[in-house]
Amino acid sequence: MTTDLALARRHFLAGGAALGAAALLPRRPAFAAATEWRELTARPGKASLWEEGGPLADIWGYDGGVPGPVLRIPQGQTLKVRFRNRLEQPTTVHWHGIRIANQYDGVAGLTQDPVEPGAEFEYLVRARDAGTYWYHPHNRSWEQLARGLYGVLIVEEPGAKAYDRDVVLAFDDWRLDGERQIDTASLGAMHDWAHAGRLGNVLTVNARPYLRESARPGERLRLRVLNTANARVLNLRFAGLAPRVIALDGQPVTPHLLEAETLRIAPAQRRDLIVDLPGGEQVFKIDEVSRDPFTACEIVVAGPAAERAAALPDDIALPANPVPKALEMRDALPVDLRMEGGAMGGMREAMLHGERKAMRDLFEAGKVWSFNGIAGSHHDAALFTVARGRTVSMPIVNDTRWPHAIHVHGHHFRVLSRNGEEVTREQWRDTVLMEPEERVEIAFVADNPGKWMIHCHMLEHQAAGMMAWFEVT
Ligand code: C2O
Ligand code: CU
Repeated sequence: MTTDLALARRHFLAGGAALGAAALLPRRPAFAAATEWRELTARPGKASLWEEGGPLADIWGYDGGVPGPVLRIPQGQTLKVRFRNRLEQPTTVHWHGIRIANQYDGVAGLTQDPVEPGAEFEYLVRARDAGTYWYHPHNRSWEQLARGLYGVLIVEEPGAKAYDRDVVLAFDDWRLDGERQIDTASLGAMHDWAHAGRLGNVLTVNARPYLRESARPGERLRLRVLNTANARVLNLRFAGLAPRVIALDGQPVTPHLLEAETLRIAPAQRRDLIVDLPGGEQVFKIDEVSRDPFTACEIVVAGPAAERAAALPDDIALPANPVPKALEMRDALPVDLRMEGGAMGGMREAMLHGERKAMRDLFEAGKVWSFNGIAGSHHDAALFTVARGRTVSMPIVNDTRWPHAIHVHGHHFRVLSRNGEEVTREQWRDTVLMEPEERVEIAFVADNPGKWMIHCHMLEHQAAGMMAWFEVT
């Protein structure tokens, strides 16, 4: 596929380019006080995506930057965001993974009207759970994220930390054209929508084509790894770092070594890793190894050794979050979810806006994926309605030739089984990656009232029908 060739070629070019001193400057995360309003503006900006110090691409960004500002709040507090739209297109802000009050979930057409150009919207983001989250538009997401609208949201655990410093590594996959601009001509291309989604030809970390993160000898880092790509599933190798996984999609997990030091991470997923750096100077390369391996970024260990006032605690496990975990499986509402469609799939027809349509008509309408035989849109009836507090048990079947990343809004679910085998290490997530033909079973306590989306986070798949919503009453 041409995009993969281009991806490899990008690495070749970036590897040969001289890295300016600016590449070594750390980025300062913006701190948001919980009690005051924080302004956040979506507007056009510029970013050097192709090579460090190289040509500037026109982007859309929060506060004009990509990624947008890192927003940090202590657990239990409320981030108050006065959002302004200075784009020429309506937009919203969705707080991915936050178990938020429904009216602030930011889904255009479901929980709010889109914020028109020049207009404002006030979001109250109450952070019940600590962990690594992110924010992005939920209106034409496939276009607005491809143009750079996303940022990282960190909810801090209370108490002493078992690491020296946290480092955000937000991976993104861009499609640039020959002018090193975002390839806008191919936005909405049906070929992408019916296949893997929009894949890019440049991989960035924190929107840097070759991030070199500097660290001290002996430092213990918490790496907050995010995949913010529209559609690309990443396979990242942290060679020599022996990372230990401490959280999935914000939720703590029993600490364990990352198998083969390699992370398979779907769009929208997060993984928090603890790495202990050696006492001497060394450079660690983080490689993308899906096909032809190339280096995405580096951790450069140099300078004086890390100093700390007191020894770090041995136990790296994170404190539990207040996610409702008492699943009542015997009284659960069963909801089957079958994904169909896409290229090389068996889908012949589906319901679209209440009418049965043949695949050819669906393709014409840009709706080539379905949940339970329905090529979804916001106009459809609820997939299900559930009384508040009841457990939902959801077996999901991926009856397509493509991987999908299924995301549930307003809740975190437990992944119970995969292809009939029990998932032994307890995991709570907001986005689950399903390989072609896989079956998983998830369950959650539907405790958050309102209308919530469930969709594939390959954003082209979502737009092309792989979406539904449910209501907690
Ligand atoms: Cu990250 Cu419905 O989205
Ligand atoms: Cu998908």
